[in-house]
Amino acid sequence: MSKIRQSIVVVGLGYIGLPTASILATKGHQVLGVDISEEVVATINSGKIHIVEPDLDVLVRSAVNSGNLKAACAPEQADVFIIAVPTPFRQSVPGAEKTPDLSFIDAATKAIAPVLREGNLVILESTSPVGTTERIAAMVAELRPDLGTSRTGAHPALSVHFAHCPERVLPGHIIRELVDNDRIIGGVTRPAAELARDLYRSFCNGGIFLTDSKTAEMAKLVENSSRDVNIAFANELSIICDRLGINVWELIELANKHPRVNILQPGPGVGGHCIAVDPWFIVAAAPKEARLIRTAREVNDAKPHWVLERVRAKAERFRDPVIGCLGLAFKANIDDLRESPALEITRELIASGIGEVMACEPNVEHQAGEIPLYSLEEVLREADILLVLVDHDEFKEIDRELLKEKVVIDTRGVWR
Ligand SMILES: NC(=O)c1ccc[n+]([C@@H]2O[C@H](COP(=O)([O-])OP(=O)(O)OC[C@H]3O[C@@H](n4cnc5c(N)ncnc54)[C@H](O)[C@@H]3O)[C@@H](O)[C@H]2O)c1
Repeated sequence: MSKIRQSIVVVGLGYIGLPTASILATKGHQVLGVDISEEVVATINSGKIHIVEPDLDVLVRSAVNSGNLKAACAPEQADVFIIAVPTPFRQSVPGAEKTPDLSFIDAATKAIAPVLREGNLVILESTSPVGTTERIAAMVAELRPDLGTSRTGAHPALSVHFAHCPERVLPGHIIRELVDNDRIIGGVTRPAAELARDLYRSFCNGGIFLTDSKTAEMAKLVENSSRDVNIAFANELSIICDRLGINVWELIELANKHPRVNILQPGPGVGGHCIAVDPWFIVAAAPKEARLIRTAREVNDAKPHWVLERVRAKAERFRDPVIGCLGLAFKANIDDLRESPALEITRELIASGIGEVMACEPNVEHQAGEIPLYSLEEVLREADILLVLVDHDEFKEIDRELLKEKVVIDTRGVWR
């Protein structure tokens, strides 16, 4: 592990930036966390956290108490700058092409440009379209022409180094995975990649693999696209099997007995802000070539509508059906509702007015946005139709006797 202590600015203190800033601080680096939200800054400076992630509270408290982590709304001079701001996509109108929204990265770059000095290292951690790290370097060159031509083996036009280090952590396991996961570091130049490697070595036990910035950017996008394509295959199978009267869960279990087959599990769609977003960055960059990746996105995006149609068909049997929606999060045993197909389906069901909707999300209290929540007991007692949208542990344990009189639509195979 590298023992060099550096001054580091981390821009963006969310699910990625805050754990990274805190772990760097506990390794002895002097860290300034920067966020545009004054509330986030105040919360962190008081040693508390604003997001739900196991063990993060302890890590942040110890980083702040050590004096090595402070938060502010504006950056200061430092040795290293890490950018971890959001990278969503834009869609001007429904059905239009989805394009990456780089406005957060541009704003972060403009914020750090005035305080950059010769020899600094700028690391982009946000998941980004290919070429974004070079784009940041070009922006800095334009904003700070005084940084001049490289005398340090840095970016060809600048004396500042630029690298991309994508993040692979799994929400719910971020602290462990930050330390244990293998990492890819792509430098705009080789010295940039090597400098970034030395920094990550100070807290990362996993393997560190160096490449150029474009390959590193693409690697992250490809990892999530690979998951998306494989899930789309399972989702398409579930629709085909429904038409052919085959139990898709049994089918996949049997097919996976083949030593070289590993089909994933279908669901009501694909959620979260990574797998459902990142493949579009590839499609936007190579629209004619990325045919499979685009189709997979479309298959997964269409799945919630197919689920809705199935509920609609079953609801026709009832005069005033009560529809119990089990789970709203985007995956099992978490409270994260971002881009959740379960939430989308529940909202659509409420808006459709085909029945009374009772939603149960055991990881969220009282209310999910505008949707009122009910206990599992209440939903099991009242619902005519039970729609399983998330495979939370609580649902797996439901007594099957209680389901006998119900119409069950199980999108996750909880009661396969
Ligand atoms: N969350 C994950 O599991 C995960 C995993 C891998 C990669 N990523 C990627 O990491 C990046 C960050 O994601 P996240 O989940 O941490 O986002 P987040 O929404 O949790 O946090 C982003 C933070 O950045 C702040 N911010 C926005 N613009 C800013 C600016 N100009 N200056 C300073 N702060 C600013 C926001 O206020 C917010 O606190 C994204 O590109 C995401 O795709 C996320």
